[in-house]
Amino acid sequence: MSSDEEIGELKVVYDFIAQGKFKKAFASATKVLDQRSPPSPQAEEEDPLRELFLFVVTKYADQLEQEGKIEQVFEIIEQGLEYFPEHPELLNETGVRLQRYGRSLEASICFERVLLQDSRYLKAYQNLQNTKCELVERWHFRMLNDVVRNAAFRAAIESQIAAGYNEVLDIGTGTGLLSMYALRCEGIRKAAACDGSEIMVQIARDVFGANGLSDRICLFQSFSQDLKIGERFSLIVTETLDSGAFGEGILETLIHAKKHLLLPEGKVIPAKVTLHVSGYQSRALTASNILINEAFIEDFSLPSNCLLSKEGTKCYDAEDIGRIQANDDFEFVTDTVVSMVVDFNDLECLVRHQEGTEVGEVELTCLDDGLLLDGFVVWFDLQLDDNQTISTDPTTSTCWNQAIFRLNQRLPVAKDQRLKLTMSCKDGALSIAHNLNSVDNQISVDEHVLEFLNDNEYYSSLTEATLETLDDMEKILDLSLFPYAGLKLLKEGKARMLFCLDQAEDLIEFIANQNDIPMGSIMLVNSVQEIFLLNDYTLDLIILQPVDVFGQINSEHFCLYQSLLAKLKPIGTVIPSSLELHGSVIESDWIVKCSRVENSELEQFQIDKYLASLETENHLDLGPFSYRSLSDSVKLAEVPFDGKLHETALELFLSEPTEKARVHAILYHYQIGFIPDRPLLGTDRAQSFAKRSAFIIPKSTFQEASGDEPPTANAQIEQLNITVLQNHGVIKCDIASIGQ
Ligand SMILES: C[S@@+](CC[C@H](N)C(=O)[O-])C[C@H]1O[C@@H](n2cnc3c(N)ncnc32)[C@H](O)[C@@H]1O
Repeated sequence: MSSDEEIGELKVVYDFIAQGKFKKAFASATKVLDQRSPPSPQAEEEDPLRELFLFVVTKYADQLEQEGKIEQVFEIIEQGLEYFPEHPELLNETGVRLQRYGRSLEASICFERVLLQDSRYLKAYQNLQNTKCELVERWHFRMLNDVVRNAAFRAAIESQIAAGYNEVLDIGTGTGLLSMYALRCEGIRKAAACDGSEIMVQIARDVFGANGLSDRICLFQSFSQDLKIGERFSLIVTETLDSGAFGEGILETLIHAKKHLLLPEGKVIPAKVTLHVSGYQSRALTASNILINEAFIEDFSLPSNCLLSKEGTKCYDAEDIGRIQANDDFEFVTDTVVSMVVDFNDLECLVRHQEGTEVGEVELTCLDDGLLLDGFVVWFDLQLDDNQTISTDPTTSTCWNQAIFRLNQRLPVAKDQRLKLTMSCKDGALSIAHNLNSVDNQISVDEHVLEFLNDNEYYSSLTEATLETLDDMEKILDLSLFPYAGLKLLKEGKARMLFCLDQAEDLIEFIANQNDIPMGSIMLVNSVQEIFLLNDYTLDLIILQPVDVFGQINSEHFCLYQSLLAKLKPIGTVIPSSLELHGSVIESDWIVKCSRVENSELEQFQIDKYLASLETENHLDLGPFSYRSLSDSVKLAEVPFDGKLHETALELFLSEPTEKARVHAILYHYQIGFIPDRPLLGTDRAQSFAKRSAFIIPKSTFQEASGDEPPTANAQIEQLNITVLQNHGVIKCDIASIGQ
């Protein structure tokens, strides 16, 4: 094809795109590519058709996805990759779509392929981190590092096998740990294990292989309810308990197991669970549940009987009460009582609880006057056998969090006041019934929006910043989690038209009605991209949401910033005006335990080795946790609003020489400059809606940097040289080398 012919064909592709005929655009684009001789990799990178082709594939794939033709989506993407096999955008796009359809393992391979070519392609880096979290939930690390849990299970398994219960089925084997405890026992006659998760079975298979146990155990990738093995076992071991005990389906699992997999005289580990309940007060736990920001309530004249709270107050959330308590933001409001006991060896008891015919009736007594009841906290004692019990009491630090049931109001209580509750676990869903919720008119709001609304200092800083804007604005865009600043400007008559996201539509409408703001002056859009479809307007003010609730920069806003600027009037304003990344070096056993396997017993089993590739480098969404600062908090980098590639190198000095092995992470947060030349607002405040995060320093860092093999445990360092890389609105931090 001559270049004139190619230009002609490309025009056809553009015409089809303009008409939204992406199938035809795809066919025409592939026709051009088919008739070309293969370009060199360098020429390929500079090829304008490459970007056009990516656009066509993406649009066509979106269209097919909307029509539910998922198989075809992957067919055209594969076809695309035949033309541009290492196209990073296309590979990344493929990974994103695979992930969306639950094909996380394949997705992770795509992201790894992108990073092999270009380690600075941080979109793929972030996607890979997210995929790893999806493949193996992060609690696996904390669970495997829980030596108390492991030792109790080990002792119970050894004791029951010694007592003759020596044919073992491990339901939900995970990495295979409990099976290996069983296989190490003298007298074990038969062992089988199953897990419903594909990746966990792969890991267990590798771990059994590395320990020379593959031929001594039958491993099934299956939920126990689907096992068709035609034989029964004398001992069933299962650790499938979440913070509310039954949330992983242990009742259903054991009812089936007792009917089909366990010998009539067989035993189950754990033997029994006892649940405890208590009332609590905690501002931190309430900020994601109820609107408690007085300034917001006053500014928008909300009536006293109107309730803004999270939907679904019946379910529980898992929270680490020990950590919140350490921050002095948690108090028991009532005594603690036993609310339910389930005997896992008693089929009838299991069935009664699963069917909801057996419930726990409890009465709690309030401890003092002047307290507020925010909800109930539940934990359990797990009796494995006659000698081993694990308690998830918040004062003991096991890997389990506690189950939190929130009220939809903060209820003042009096000393000795009695509160009646009923606890049930019908269909395995632990729930608490009571009459303590408010029945006033309620608007349900997303929990992250509530956290944002309840961050009073952010609210004040942002609304104050808007005072500096023009007094008479035509059109403004507020992309905040909730557009209160934009609504306030409308209410005060400073702006005439507000564009904002529709994620809290009900609340926006409610506030508009309460404050005589005509809904016609509010244009709700579904996504930031939709803004670009609205052609004939320019903006006086753009308010961005620079950081999200988990403590990451908002990559979408950063990447679209330059295009948004094109919509801003020359005298227009953007808030915030600046963003800085700040951090300090910390030591924290807690953060290590949550991020990698650090347990000598598990290292013997080589479990650490098989989980290593699933470790992540960024621990997001950190609530209160215990750590020791090893350096001052310093500015790590300016974060320009452009989503482009920036690299900053800096030296971080420790306050005193510290053993390498104790240097665990860089705890970071953001400092937001709402308007130039004013003090910045940090996201490291106790009540910040955006949580802090940490770059985890991988164990291998010090070995590689200093050439130590194995590392000298007590070697000391005084300085870290770090590199902060920004690209595509994602930040990555690397420890470049170590000054000693
Ligand atoms: C909490 S982990 C425990 C892993 C391992 N047993 C240990 O103690 O280290 C629970 C595992 O059980 C699996 N699981 C839960 N219910 C299951 C069932 N009925 N059948 C098979 N696997 C199950 C989950 O996929 C998960 O990997």
